Amino acid sequence: NKINKEAQKPKKTITKNEDGKKVMKIFFGTQTRTAEDFSRIIEKECKKIGIPCEVVDLESYEHEQELHTESFVMFLVATHGEGDPTDNAKEFYLWLTNEERSTDHLNGVPFTVFGLGNKTYEHYNAVARVIDRRMEELGGKRVFERGEGDDDATLEEDFNRWKKDMWPVVCKFFGYELKSTEDDKFVPRFRMVTLNQDSKDINDPFIKIVATPLKPKLSTDNKVIYDMKNPYYAEVLENRELHSSESDRSCRHIEFKLGDEVSYTTGDHLGVFPINDGRLVEQLIKRLGVNGDDMVALIPIDQEGSVIKASFGPMTIRKAFSEHLDITNPVRKSVLRALAESTANEEEKKRLLYLATEEANEEYNKFIKNDFRGVIDLLESFPGLKPSIAHFLEFTPRLPARMYSISSSPHNKNGIVSITSVVVNFTTGNQRAHNGVASTWLSHLKVGDKVPLFVRESHFKLPPSPEQKPVIMVGPGTGLAPFRGFLQELQHRNHPQQQSLLFFGCRSDNVDYIYREELEQYHQSSVLENLVVAFSRKTTQKVYVQNKLLEHKEKVWELLNNGAYFYVCGDGRNMSKAVQQALLSIIKEFGSKDDNSAQQFIDDMSAHGRYLQDVWF
Ligand code: 2AM
Repeated sequence: NKINKEAQKPKKTITKNEDGKKVMKIFFGTQTRTAEDFSRIIEKECKKIGIPCEVVDLESYEHEQELHTESFVMFLVATHGEGDPTDNAKEFYLWLTNEERSTDHLNGVPFTVFGLGNKTYEHYNAVARVIDRRMEELGGKRVFERGEGDDDATLEEDFNRWKKDMWPVVCKFFGYELKSTEDDKFVPRFRMVTLNQDSKDINDPFIKIVATPLKPKLSTDNKVIYDMKNPYYAEVLENRELHSSESDRSCRHIEFKLGDEVSYTTGDHLGVFPINDGRLVEQLIKRLGVNGDDMVALIPIDQEGSVIKASFGPMTIRKAFSEHLDITNPVRKSVLRALAESTANEEEKKRLLYLATEEANEEYNKFIKNDFRGVIDLLESFPGLKPSIAHFLEFTPRLPARMYSISSSPHNKNGIVSITSVVVNFTTGNQRAHNGVASTWLSHLKVGDKVPLFVRESHFKLPPSPEQKPVIMVGPGTGLAPFRGFLQELQHRNHPQQQSLLFFGCRSDNVDYIYREELEQYHQSSVLENLVVAFSRKTTQKVYVQNKLLEHKEKVWELLNNGAYFYVCGDGRNMSKAVQQALLSIIKEFGSKDDNSAQQFIDDMSAHGRYLQDVWF
C-alpha cells in the first residue's frame, strides 16, 4: 500500500514563524479523534501563551522536511490493538523505526511525547514508548518526559496532569512566560454556514473549499486506496441470524461484496461506519429545535495555516446526527464543560462543571461512565441546555468506525467478506436500555444496502506454512470469527495432515452454538483435527474454554512441543487472561517450570509470533 504522495495536495509546512521564533508542531496519531481533540487543546493553550503552533495529522507528515531543530515537536499518539500505530500514523512509524536510519538523523530536534493507550491491553502505550525511544536514538532532545494516558480509566485526567507539569518546562525552553492555561472554556474553531437556497451563506467564497471532495489516496500503480478516510461502499449480500429461537440474544452473520479494488487476507479486521438509531436522531432534532433538512458546513475561523482538513460538511443536519456524531456513548469531561456554557440554569451549570473537575472523578465515573450517558441523555437530564447547533456539531465527539474480526477467507468465496456480530444491548446503571450503535444497526441491514467499510491489516495470521505447524485456536462466542476464516483457508490449502485444535465456547448447544454444521463438517473432513466445545450453561457447573484447555492438557503440550501456534480471540477483560493462566499451568506442569520460566516460555512464543491474540474489551 505504498502511497503516491505526488497524487496528493502539497502541504505547506511552517518551521519558524515571521519573528524567527520556534514553532511548536503537534503531530497526532488517532483512530477515534481523541488525540486530535487533545492536539486542539494544546493548540489553544499555545495561542494563549503566544507560542506559534501547527497541528499536523501524521498522515500528511513529509519526513525530513518536518523535523527541524527550529521547531519543537510534540507527539500525541494513540496505540491500537496489539501495540500497533493508528492508521494515520502507520507510515510515519515505519519511517521512524527503520533501523537503517543513522543515529544523528534528528540531531537536536526538541520533542516530547504523550501516549493514549488502554491498560487492559498487553502492549500499553507501545507506540508512544517506541516513538519516544526512537526520537532519542536518532539524536532528538527530549525536553519533557513522556506522559501516558489510560483510556480504560483516567485518560483525560492523565493528559491534564501531564500538561500541567509540561507547560512550565516547555515555556522555559521557548523562552516564554508561563501564563495560566487552566481555562477550559470551549473556544469554537469553526463557524457554521447554512447552504439553503435562501441563506446568505450560499455565496460565501469559502463554501467551495469545504465542498471540494477529498482527493483519494492512490497507490504507486494509480489505484484508489480505500481506508478509514476513504471507505469503500460495499453491498450487503446476506444478513442472517446465528442463534436459535431459544436464545435471548441475537448474533448475525453478515456478508458484503467487495469489488476488485478491495482485498484482505484471512485474520484481518473490517472497519464499518455505523449509523445512529433514527428515532434518537429525530429526538435530537426536536430537542435542539433545528430543521433536520438544513444543509450546513463548518468553516475554520482561522484560515491561516493552523487548521488542516478539519472542515465538516456540507451535509444536512440529519445526516450529521445520523452518521457523524457519537450521541450515545459516555461523554468526556471537555464535552461536559462545553455543554455547561449553554445553559442559563445556574444549578445545571454548576453540576456539569463540577462533574468535569478532578475531585468529582468518582461521581463522573458513576454518573457518566457506569450509567452510560451520552450527549443525548444529558440533553434530556438537563432541560436548560440550549447549545447552538454550530457549537453542538463541533464539540460532540465523532462516531468512530467499529472494528470487527473478519470471519471468512478470501479463498472461500472470491470478493466476499463476512463478519459475525453479537447484538449489544444492556441496561445502564440507571436502568435505561442501551443498544450498541454498530451491532444494532448491522442487525437491521438489508440485502442490497450499501455500507462504508475498509480493511485493516492484522498480525493474526496462520503460520507461514501451516502444513508443518500445528495450530491451537481458542475462541468462545464471536471469538470464533477469525477461526472460521482460518478453517476456510486451511480447507483451501488442502493439507489434511494438519494438526489443529479448536476450543469454542457457548452457553448451550441448542442456543448459541454458532456455525455448528460448518465446524462439524471441517472436523469430519479432517480440516480440523480436534473440535472441543465448552458449554457454560448446560449443566449446573460453568464450563469455559480454559477448563477444556486443561482437560486436554496432554494434547496441548504435545502440540506446543511440535512448534504449535497458539491463538486466542474474544473477550480480553477476563477470558483471554484466564486462557493464558491455563496455558501457564500446562507449561509449568509438563515443562517442569516455575512461574517465571513458564511466563518466559509464553513471552518467547509471543516474540516469535506463535502466541497471538485478537481481543476486545
Ligand atoms: P457465560 O455467559 O455463560 O458465563 C461466549 O460468550 C461464551 O463465553 C459463553 O459461554 C460465556 O459464558 C463464556 N464466558 C463468559 N465469561 C468467560 C470467561 N471469563 N472465560 C471464558 N469464557 C467465558
